[in-house]
Amino acid sequence: MTTSLRQPRHSVVDWSDAHALGLEEIDAQHRLLFDLINDLWHHLVRRSARTDVQATLTALERCALSHFATEETFMRVTGYPHLAAHMAEHADFVDRIGREKTAVMRDQPLSFDLLSYLKGWLSDHILRADADFTRMARIAHGALASPHTSEPPSPSFWQRLRGWW
Ligand SMILES: [Fe+2]
Ligand SMILES: [Fe+2]
Repeated sequence: MTTSLRQPRHSVVDWSDAHALGLEEIDAQHRLLFDLINDLWHHLVRRSARTDVQATLTALERCALSHFATEETFMRVTGYPHLAAHMAEHADFVDRIGREKTAVMRDQPLSFDLLSYLKGWLSDHILRADADFTRMARIAHGALASPHTSEPPSPSFWQRLRGWW
């Protein structure tokens, strides 16, 4: 991945305040996923070399796996009741990226279908599924600030979580 990818350019997905969940680490990971999807869009438009496309797909896969592990640990320790369904959505995302990696490795071009899927999945998943476990944790534990207030998140909850993972 080159630094030019991070320069201002047309994007396919845009972060907005509506995507902020009030969990600093998770919000930062989401922003990175937005950036990587926009990098893929850039590759598609520019018809980048296969090695560059593969590198970004691999980065997206790794960041997604790391992010999902963070969320799944959070859901486990907070007793989120819909963990299995949430994990299945995560698995679909990783599986779709894996299939695209295989296709690109076989010299097929990066597909519009993938970009359409990633764009729709990420925004919908954050606004619906991720917002749900955040809301339930806030209700159950009262340790998280609202994402839309100036009140800072309590560090105690993250400190306890770090003790678990
Ligand atoms: Fe997420
Ligand atoms: Fe999630």
